[in-house]
Amino acid sequence: MAPATPQTHVELRGVTKRFGGTVALDRVDLAVRAGTVHALVGENGAGKSTAGKILAGVLTPDAGQVVLHGAETVFRSPRAALDRGITMVAQELSLVPSRSVLENVFLGIESRRGPFVRGGAERFAELVAECGIEADPDATVGRMPVAEQQNVEILRALARRAELIVMDEPTARLTSEQAVALRRTVRSLAERGVTVVYVSHFLDEVLAVADDVTILRDGRAIRSGPAAAETRRSLIEGIVGRAIEAAFPPRRPRELPAPVVLRVQGLSRAGSFEEVGFDVRAGEIVTLAGLVGSGRSEVLRCIFGRDRATAGSMTLAGEPHAPRSPRRAIRDGVAMVPESRKADGLLPRRSVRENVTLPHLGRFVAPGGFVRTGGERAAAGRVTEAVGLTGATIASAMAELSGGNQQKSLFARWLVGRPRLFLADEPTRGVDVGAKRGIYDVLAGLAGEGMAVLVVSSELEEVLGLAHRILVMRGGRLVGELDGAEATRTEVMELAFGAAA
Ligand SMILES: Nc1ncnc2c1ncn2[C@@H]1O[C@H](COP(=O)(O)OP(=O)(O)OP(=O)(O)O)[C@@H](O)[C@H]1O
Ligand SMILES: [Mg+2]
Repeated sequence: MAPATPQTHVELRGVTKRFGGTVALDRVDLAVRAGTVHALVGENGAGKSTAGKILAGVLTPDAGQVVLHGAETVFRSPRAALDRGITMVAQELSLVPSRSVLENVFLGIESRRGPFVRGGAERFAELVAECGIEADPDATVGRMPVAEQQNVEILRALARRAELIVMDEPTARLTSEQAVALRRTVRSLAERGVTVVYVSHFLDEVLAVADDVTILRDGRAIRSGPAAAETRRSLIEGIVGRAIEAAFPPRRPRELPAPVVLRVQGLSRAGSFEEVGFDVRAGEIVTLAGLVGSGRSEVLRCIFGRDRATAGSMTLAGEPHAPRSPRRAIRDGVAMVPESRKADGLLPRRSVRENVTLPHLGRFVAPGGFVRTGGERAAAGRVTEAVGLTGATIASAMAELSGGNQQKSLFARWLVGRPRLFLADEPTRGVDVGAKRGIYDVLAGLAGEGMAVLVVSSELEEVLGLAHRILVMRGGRLVGELDGAEATRTEVMELAFGAAA
């Protein structure tokens, strides 16, 4: 076997990984140079996480080798990989919610290197100073926003003195400002000689942060090379295997005057938002833009009955709407895809079909009490096809799906009930470029069928590309409304930040 070039940190050589009938990786060759940021890109299910997990000892290959610093290596566990300086920040957060930040950061290290309690605070302060990621060491992780939990994950990897960190979609749940900060951290890690394998669906981010890029498609490495030789367009073509037309479906004209489906008047929730008022009409897509913390998600939660408003009122199709629980809201025809998919009770061991129809089983029960599986299947088929999941996937257990496909399943679940108001909070987080378009098509299709659609999004492209109308929130108040077809990035940003900021 030819020796690796001195600068190669780790390699996959002819690595194949199967899960039952699925070939997740098919004879993949991949060379990661030391002290560089190496991005892995590809559609949902392309094999990115699997490749990352093999590098980090979470999975072992069925065939082929992992070559570390030129020597063939077998990692039998993540701990074994960590002992050789490799760790992973996983796609789904894996912190202990009831413990403090400090405990989470040093969790699992104390057993090797003595109790973390002593000197823990100083070590934490050092770490924070070194990498510039802020976090309150005493905060309870489970009570922190997702973005901050993400930072704790990264601190934890750094605390392990890792020489190579696999980051699986580290910015999927971050705001654009936080993502910029994270990219800076990643670059400074690389400058200090740490190697980063970086999985992301954000192609602009990949182009900005990566030295090298490998494109995976259907488990194969399509090509590897310097990021500087790629463009957004060349990456997309490599990822989907063809040129993609438009990123967004054409905006269907609304049939005005359409009936108002949701009316929100003077709605307030103490501490979250104040005096918010707007309408969403049948057939309309309205996006709620603004910075994280501006109150957008909180407004959605009230409409969905997850929180109670402290003042103001709402109507749904003309009827008073003050849901005391999501169950009530659902019964009244409201659906919501929430921000965090893990929190949403997907059953990992059940099939996609079951996960999608489970909350709606009542619909498929015949008078004798039997579940009409035909009807259930048909409904599952309709909604999964609508979000772009294919036959084999529908029969698979949820846990076997790639992260993006899990997201699509969640989306499908809510379509079973044929709601009249569809709420979505960051609906395309973690979804690949091709599938994003699929979800936009779904949203446009729902509006086309007369549903009212209200979407919270932090991605400006999405806010602008999708909406008939854009509502912008800042500091808990609605500060402006723009026409979706005419608004510019600058206009949205000025409203979100406060003009002349
Ligand atoms: N534990 C598992 N059991 C069965 N199949 C699996 C398992 N893990 C992954 N797969 C399958 O292997 C393939 C690759 O999955 P992987 O998670 O690596 O994709 P990915 O590129 O990370 O996708 P995403 O962008 O959606 O996160 C998919 O078809 C997935 O369904
Ligand atoms: Mg993945």
